[in-house]
Parts: sequence; structure tokens; C-alpha cells
Amino acid sequence: MDKKRVLSGVQPTGNLHLGNYLGAIRNWVEAQPDYDNYFCVVDLHAITVPHDPKQLAESSLAIAALYLACGIEPTHSTIFIQSHISAHSELAWLLNCVTPLNWLERMIQFKEKARKQGENVSVGLLDYPVLMAADILLYDADLVPVGEDQKQHIELTRDIVIRINDQFGKKKKPVLKLPAPLIREAGARVMSLTDGTKKMSKSDPSEQSRINLLDSPAEITKKIKRCKTDSFKGLEFDNPDRPECHNLLSLYMLLSGQSRDAVAAECAEMGWGQFKPLLADTVVAALEPIQTKYYEIMGDRASLEALLKAGREKAEVSANDVLDRVKTALGFSKPL
Ligand code: TYM
Repeated sequence: MDKKRVLSGVQPTGNLHLGNYLGAIRNWVEAQPDYDNYFCVVDLHAITVPHDPKQLAESSLAIAALYLACGIEPTHSTIFIQSHISAHSELAWLLNCVTPLNWLERMIQFKEKARKQGENVSVGLLDYPVLMAADILLYDADLVPVGEDQKQHIELTRDIVIRINDQFGKKKKPVLKLPAPLIREAGARVMSLTDGTKKMSKSDPSEQSRINLLDSPAEITKKIKRCKTDSFKGLEFDNPDRPECHNLLSLYMLLSGQSRDAVAAECAEMGWGQFKPLLADTVVAALEPIQTKYYEIMGDRASLEALLKAGREKAEVSANDVLDRVKTALGFSKPL
């Protein structure tokens, strides 16, 4: 039987943090032998908020290098940069014309980001989920592995598919494939180090709120030493009055590879003074091999660029095929 198709992506905005790793990339890596995988660097999404043109190209390469450093293997996965395949923008336009405006106005991420941006909200920010739908649909993806915060965007993608198939599909021949989210419970929502009720985010102005995958051991140790805790005795999961405690224990569990019961038992009697150095050492040890590999890959640009070129060439075949299918269904003439 053919393997199911997976597609996902990360934006080249700033550094990747533990939320991106544990909520998304680590899960891509673990499941990659089971699927036919497409992973893109979504640089068109990165310009939906103000960006620095001097850094965009370099950040895109860096994210691709991080995919590889985290364990994405070209034998199982096709890696490419979104803007290198123009079908993404073109399908987004076609989808725009069938997507009701109020579906987009309802999106939680849009409302949150728009609030932070004040006057300076672009049409692109509102349209972000439609471009994301185009990314997914161009590859006939069955599954989209993401963190919890992206669930609503995938539900929107599904609504768009149903609408297009209803309006333009034939009974037995849908135009687009209906994808499903793949959200693992553990790591799906990594929280900020400064507030255990807010998710860890690249857009938080405080660097102290997140651990980046490329932070040095000294930075990691300092951030964990300073992170918000509480004054309860012992450490425990799932106490709603202790969101920071739950988050930090979860990080320890995920990065040490231990079970939840083992971590709960090991840490039940610990104080923060004993736990924080343990967590810091665990994070440093988990990130060290990723960092070493990342610098190695970035040191060999020619190989990285060749890999992205091969990825683009392969991905483009599927993308152009689906784009053609949609244009035909919508009634466009063929180019003369
Ligand atoms: P981005 O770059 O904002 O996030 C990349 C991935 O990281 C996950 N994530 C988290 N997971 C757990 N805890 C957190 N604190 C946390 N913060 C971020 C996100 O859920 C995501 O999986 N819209 C996408 C990019 C995208 C995409 C796509 C994804 C564009 N097109 C097509 C899948 C399919 C995003 O959130 O990027």
C-alpha cells in the first residue's frame, strides 16, 4: 500500500524554539519512515508581519539546515522553500476567491497577532491561513503534523476543501483531498518560561520567555535558572494552580525521553533548586547534537542548496499537477 502523504512547515522568522521542536519537528522526525513527507520552509508566511529583507534568504536556509540537524532525512522527506514554487501563491489566490471573509476574521491567531500589531495589520496576515491551505492542498496531503495552535487553520483548510469540492467537483471525483491534523498530545503546547499560561512564541519580545534551539549552554542554563516557578512543596504534573511546574516537568520528560510516571516519581520530593540544574543539563544535552550538526550543515552551503534544489524539483511536480486540476475545475482556459 502507498504511504500516506504528510506536509508541514515552519516560518523563517527568528530562531526556532523548543515549542517548534517538540510540537512539530521532533514528531516529523519520529514518524518520517512511515509516511511520504514534504517539509517546506514557509518564507511567504514570514512576510505577513514586518520582516527584514536582509535576513529572509539566510533565515530560510537556516531553517532548512535545522530540519536536517533535527533528523529529517532526505531519503524519507522532500525539503524545499515555499516561495521557490510559484504554485503556492497562485493556488492561494484561487482559494481566496471561494473563502468567505468571515471565516478568516474568526481565526484566533489572526485576532491575537492583529491585536499586537495595532494599525499595521496587512491583508497578508488575514490571508495567512488560506496560503497555509494552499501549501497543504498542493501536495494532496493526508496528514499535517503541527502543534495545537495550528488546529484551527487545518479545520479551515478542511472547510475550504469541502466548499470547493461541493461547488466544482464531480460526485466521484473531488477536486481536492481532505487533510487531517496530526497533533501529538505531548509537546503540542509548550509554554513560556516567564508565564506558564502563555504559549512559548517567537514573537514574545522577551528572549527569557523561550529556549531557542541554537542557544548556548550558558544561555540555556541562565534562562532556566531565571524562569518563573512557584512556592509549593515538591513538583507535580497537572495541578491547575501550577502551570509553570507542569510545563517544566513536561520539558524534562520529553527531552530526557523518560515516561511521565518515572518523572513524576523522580521529582515528587524535589525543590526548584535541585530540579533546575537537572532540567538545564537535560536541555543542553538534548540540543548539543542538533547544534553540532547544524553548524556542520551551514558550513557546506553547496550541499544544502543542492538538496533544496532537488527538493524543489520533486515538490513542483505535485504542486503543478494539483494547481492544474483546480484551474481546470474552476473553468480556466489552458495556456495557449
Ligand atoms: P510556525 O513557524 O509559527 O510554527 C511552526 C510549528 O511549531 C508549532 N509551535 C508550537 N508547538 C508547541 N508549542 C508551542 N509553544 C509552539 N509554537 C509553535 C506550530 O504549531 C507549528 O506546527 N502556520 C504554521 C506554518 C505553516 C504550515 C503550513 C504548517 C505554513 N503552512 C502548512 C503546516 C502545514 C506555523 O505555525 O508556523
